[in-house]
Amino acid sequence: AEGMSDEEKIFTYNGVLYPSIMCPEETLKRLDSIQAREDDVMLVAYPKCGFNWMVGVLRKIIGEATGKKMDSKTPPLIEFSAPEYLKVCQEAKQDPSPRLLGTHIHPDNIPASFFEKKTKMLVVFRNPKDTLVSFYHFYQNNPVLPSGQSWETFFSNFMSGEVAWGSYFEHAKAWEKRMDDPNIMVVTYEELKEVDMGVRNISRFFGFQLTEEQVQQIAEGSTFRAMREKSNDSHAGMGKVFFRKGEVGDWKNNFTPEQSQKMDEVFKAELEGTRLGAKLNY
Ligand code: A3P
Repeated sequence: AEGMSDEEKIFTYNGVLYPSIMCPEETLKRLDSIQAREDDVMLVAYPKCGFNWMVGVLRKIIGEATGKKMDSKTPPLIEFSAPEYLKVCQEAKQDPSPRLLGTHIHPDNIPASFFEKKTKMLVVFRNPKDTLVSFYHFYQNNPVLPSGQSWETFFSNFMSGEVAWGSYFEHAKAWEKRMDDPNIMVVTYEELKEVDMGVRNISRFFGFQLTEEQVQQIAEGSTFRAMREKSNDSHAGMGKVFFRKGEVGDWKNNFTPEQSQKMDEVFKAELEGTRLGAKLNY
């Protein structure tokens, strides 16, 4: 990313912004070449909703339940295939089941085979205010993203969906429609912070049997502190950028009262009365 301008770091594909180094256009174009399997463990989250946390949890669940050795260096995003990252699409072909795959992509753009094969998907959401704050800091500290935006500019870009991977609200509305699908489990960052990080329910959902002891051990190994400490050699050396603060309610340190009100208005206009809205306290 050295020497790249903010404009070069992000590009539009099918009306949605993507980071050009992480998700080159060629990868997005051939995303459908990835063939889903029925027994894939698929993780989906809008950026900054807790994706990497759940990557850690799911790796441990799969490892414990099946004995499969899980890579711990790179996030398994199907849209990441720049040379710096794992070539997920190519390597996935050789990877024995159960594979752990993930994406930040809007459900309408997830390869159709995942829905055709009825692949189970864990979908993670987070309160939009904390998501926005986390995303802002990520833009500031990740050299492959544009860092020249002020808080005010980033706020308005988030609200209008002009951020990497598109509009939070569009993602939320699309998943709301699929909440009854038995192959989809929607969880929130906030509820994962509570009892055992959902480890028991998540492993059951994917059909893995774990002992009570294994469940506890996985939850203890996946606290923010534990994951941050272990993150040094992960994420191309940027672990600390991904494991920033790990709290609920950090928005209160960043939002003005007007911004908070604006978010409430927009969220209610888009998602009031929905089940996902209720899960997120709207
Ligand atoms: P903050 O920026 O608020 O700290 P993603 O992985 O989707 O990019 O999400 C990143 C957010 O999840 C960051 O939020 C990060 O700190 C938080 N996070 C990562 N691991 C966590 C954990 N084990 N427990 C709680 N939060 C975690």
